[in-house]
Amino acid sequence: MTIEIQSISGGVGVELANVDMANVSDADLEVMKQAFVEHGLVFLRGQDVTPEQHIAFAERWGEINVNRFFPRVSGYDQIASVVKEKDQVVNIGGGWHTDHSYDQIPALGSILLARETPPIGGDTLFSCMYKAYDGLSDGMKKTLEGMNAVHSSRHIFGDQSDYAEAMSDRFSNAADATQDAIHPVIITHPQSGRKALYVNPAFTLHFEGWTAEESKPLLDYLYQHATLMENTTRFQWDVGSVAFWDNRCTWHYALNDYQGERREMHRITIEGGPLN
Ligand code: SIN
Repeated sequence: MTIEIQSISGGVGVELANVDMANVSDADLEVMKQAFVEHGLVFLRGQDVTPEQHIAFAERWGEINVNRFFPRVSGYDQIASVVKEKDQVVNIGGGWHTDHSYDQIPALGSILLARETPPIGGDTLFSCMYKAYDGLSDGMKKTLEGMNAVHSSRHIFGDQSDYAEAMSDRFSNAADATQDAIHPVIITHPQSGRKALYVNPAFTLHFEGWTAEESKPLLDYLYQHATLMENTTRFQWDVGSVAFWDNRCTWHYALNDYQGERREMHRITIEGGPLN
């Protein structure tokens, strides 16, 4: 059966039907890659795959990034465990962000597979950073072109993080959270050639050459602009659902509205390339 590309929202992302991650032909992989570049976010449903099959699928997209802060699925270093136990209050990814912007060479994206979902809640929101850029005025685009921003992991994964206590059983290697990275505020996506806004509320500290205080009003404006409802999609998970997002042109936000229930996701992250 041929892959069907189904629009599920005017915001961002498409669902790909007739895909079995464990048996993707080379021709179908090309269709998936084109859809991924075009939309920056693809969803799959009903994927009954083993960790080995999840890894084998991911390896067809690039080298796997082994996350230094996340717990790993036992026996599978390549798979980060994104879990919230029934008695845990804080979730992972519960705010708008794009992963790995704190790295000099940020990861391309992640293939997130739902293993256990709460009866209600635990959806993930996504927002489109192409639309965020396109919706800016010419004057604002001109102002932001040529500007850089400083990103860091220290305040999230480091010893002094506000999350250090709540996440002490889930995040590790706080001493490795030393990276700062500088990226253009507007990037040109390496595959699509489209321009995207590349600052985010979780990891961006300030504009290069500006103080945090000076940067805050403009960053706040960009963040509320980037999350206009029209730019977003809300994805409801079932066991076996997959979201594969591109970090260079989307943000995501894991909703934490399922207290007292367990949610377990397996995340494999693919290495990216330098951003310009
Ligand atoms: C993440 O931010 O990587 C996790 C997203 C989710 O659990 O929905």
